[in-house]
Parts: sequence; structure tokens; C-alpha cells
Amino acid sequence: MDSIRIRGGRPLEGEIEIFGAKNAALPLMAASLLTEETLTLSNIPHLTDITTLAHLLAQHGVEIGMDGNARRGGNAGRVLSLRAREITDTTAPYELVCRMRASILVLGPLLARVGQATVSLPGGCAIGTRPVDMHIDGLARLGAEILLEDGYIRARVRGRLRGAEIRLPFASVGATENLLMAATLADGETVIRNAAREPEVVDLALCLKAMGAEIGGIGSDELVIRGKEALSGTEHDVVGDRIEAGTYALAAAIVGGDVELAGAPAPSLRALLDYLASAGVAVSETPRGLRVRGNGRPVAADVTTQPYPGFPTDLQAQAMALMAVADGAAVITETIFENRFMHVQELRRMGADITVRGPAALVRGVDALTGAQVMATDLRASSSLVLAGLAAEGETVVHRVYHLDRGYERIEDKLAACGAEIDRVPH
Ligand code: EPZ
Repeated sequence: MDSIRIRGGRPLEGEIEIFGAKNAALPLMAASLLTEETLTLSNIPHLTDITTLAHLLAQHGVEIGMDGNARRGGNAGRVLSLRAREITDTTAPYELVCRMRASILVLGPLLARVGQATVSLPGGCAIGTRPVDMHIDGLARLGAEILLEDGYIRARVRGRLRGAEIRLPFASVGATENLLMAATLADGETVIRNAAREPEVVDLALCLKAMGAEIGGIGSDELVIRGKEALSGTEHDVVGDRIEAGTYALAAAIVGGDVELAGAPAPSLRALLDYLASAGVAVSETPRGLRVRGNGRPVAADVTTQPYPGFPTDLQAQAMALMAVADGAAVITETIFENRFMHVQELRRMGADITVRGPAALVRGVDALTGAQVMATDLRASSSLVLAGLAAEGETVVHRVYHLDRGYERIEDKLAACGAEIDRVPH
């Protein structure tokens, strides 16, 4: 397995292009199951999670075409065309679902389109137990009969799903997306209360609207959907990746320098920008995205993760790397996942001073981190170790790079182009 080698201490100068958001692209790809016409998605990042979902969709009968060199509206990234002319198989097998939890997003669309779906239960994962009860309960409210047996969710409905009122106990991103997609083909009106408002949910809703769905309340916590008998194809440009942009903003903050993030969706990064300002990092919006200037040691600042528009859990690990070298002590509280502190142990091996109590980590900034061999068990934890490596004295080697490849396209090339001493060591 490849690893990433970093010699720390080089400031970042230059421009980094931000690609389309993985977490928007995945539900958008699943939405292709809702129509027999072609859905064309541009600004698709080149990531292993995208390939995994493409394999699953192909197994359901989706014809997939990819144009590798496409450029549209200034955005680099691939164009993916997906056509589910006919659903040939309604089973999402364990072998594919266990590789990526987001595979659960085929459940709602398959059920809505052909009245049945058998999807492996995703099970727990490194960052927590992550149940799918809200997906299942919501689909049952829409009239599905659901059985859990042999590790599979077996769902079916006689005729069409029926519109209903659903209140989510928590504003789950995935449950909102699954139910939203299912409701677009249901008979009658569905109201989803306490819906997630993440920009990726908004991007999905906008694409579904362009496919002919009737959706009110987009961007709010109450979505109202009037089901249609069929949806059509459309073309859609995937929203820029706020988490990729946020990660590079934190990279510039931790190691210093001056970086422009072209294509960064600044309005959806408000919570991070406020946080960076309180840590003494200069951030400004530019016509192309964001400019981040790290000048000197960051100041310690507390942060608590929250559903959007709060501080994203997907940037918590990277913010912790920043606080590890800050002037002062900061409390970082994780409220979304119960076990998203696996990076702590590895950051400590690099000299960080961090104490965890339940959902809170007390990070006492140190003068300098030192390079070490590290590895992480999830995507964002891995990127926090890359950031720590950029700031550390000496050499850091981040192992198990496949986690990074799930969510960051060419992270080492993008950082090296801005002056970082970083490369990939093939195994
Ligand atoms: C999405 O995961 C993202 N993944 C995650 O991105 C992100 O961390 C998360 O939202 C929160 O923003 C994709 O979009 C593909 P949730 P999702 O349902 O939809 C609990 C990354 O690094 N819950 O909002 O799975 C759950 O256990 C990642 O790119 C239930 O209890 O997140 C968690 O504690 C990883 N029952 C909380 O809700 C359910 O039925 C939030 O999960 C569903 C969720």
C-alpha cells in the first residue's frame, strides 16, 4: 500500500484548484436510478469512492460513460453520464456496501423506481456505529415493508411509495438524501422535517428539480416534495468541495504562506472562515474562491462540530492538527460521531499534547511537532496527519494512503505545486 512522505516546514505559496464535492457527487450518482433517461454530471472528482459507487450502479444496470478531460464553466473534472434505462438487479451486495457506507443511498431510489431493493446493512465503521435506522423508518413511513435478515435490508412496496410526513430525530445527511430521492417518485406529498441543510443536500435537491421533481424548502430544515410518476434526465455541475477547500485552508494556516483556493465554495465555509479568523489566520474571499494567509503561530480557539451551518465534523481532525501547534489551549468537541478522535493517538506520536474526555479533546499547543511514521483509519484523520506533517520538524510518513484517495484527488501533487516537500512512495 502506498504511503505519503513529507518533510515539514515549507510554507505554501500559489494556487490550488478545488474539485467537485465527493459527498455531493455520490448521492447525485445514486439519483440516476430514478429515471430511465441520461443524467450527466460534470465536475466529478477522481476518487476511489466514486469508482466504488460506479461499480455498484453498473451492477444495478446503469450504463456509465466517463469523459476524462472535460472542462465546463472553468471547472476541471470528469463528466460522468449515467443511464438507468432498465434496473436489471435490485441487490446491493455486502462486498460493495462494506467498502463504502454511502452505498446505502441506492435504497430509496431503487425502491421508488421498481418497488424493491435488497441492500446490505453497512454495519459500523471506524468513526462510530453509524446506524441506518432513520433511513429505514422513513422509508417505512412512505409505505415500504422492510425486513432485516441475514445482514440485509429487504424492502418492497406494493405499487408506488406513498407521500407522508416524516420527522427525523436528527438532521442526518444520508437519511435526508435517501428519503428526498424516494419521495420524488412517491404518490402524493411528503414533508421531511428536521431535514439536513448541508450544501450537498441542496445540490441534490437542485439536480432533482432539474429532473422534473417538485421540491419546496430547499436549503431549509423542512423539505416538501410532490411526487411525480417519472423524472427525466438532465445535466448538472457538482458543487465545489467545501471539505477539500477547508482542508487546504487549514494547511495554509498550519504551515504559513499565501494560497488561493480556486473554486472554493466560500459561502458554505462560513463557520470555518470565522474559526480561522479567531485563530488569527487571514482569510478573504476572491472572485475565484478564497485566499488564505497563515502568518505566524495560530492562536488557540475552541470549536464544536455541528450540523450545517455549524462547523463541519469533516474538518474537525484537520482543525485539531492546527490547534496542536497553536499558542494556548483549545477544546475541540465532536457532537456528530461518537468515535471521531482516532487521529489523536497519532498526533500525540508527533509530539502533540492532547487529552480526550468523552466527546471533548483538550489540545494544548506545542512549539513544534516532530515527524514520525503514522497511519489513520479514516479519511479526514489521514488528512489531519498530512497537515501535521507539513508543520512538523523532520520527516513524516503517512501510511494507509487509500483512505486519502477516497476523498482527496492528488493531494500530494496539489501541495507539492505550492512548495511543500511531499511525495507518494509506491509500495
Ligand atoms: C455524511 O455521512 C457524509 N458522507 C460524512 O462524510 C459526514 O461526516 C456526515 O454526513 C456528517 O456531515 C457522505 O455524504 C457520503 P449522517 P452520513 O447520517 O450521511 C447518526 C467524510 O469524511 N445516524 O448525517 O452517514 C450517525 O451515526 C464523511 O467525507 C443514525 O443514528 O452522516 C451519526 O452519528 C464521513 N441513524 C449522525 O447520525 C441513521 O439512520 C450523522 O450521520 C443515520 C445517521
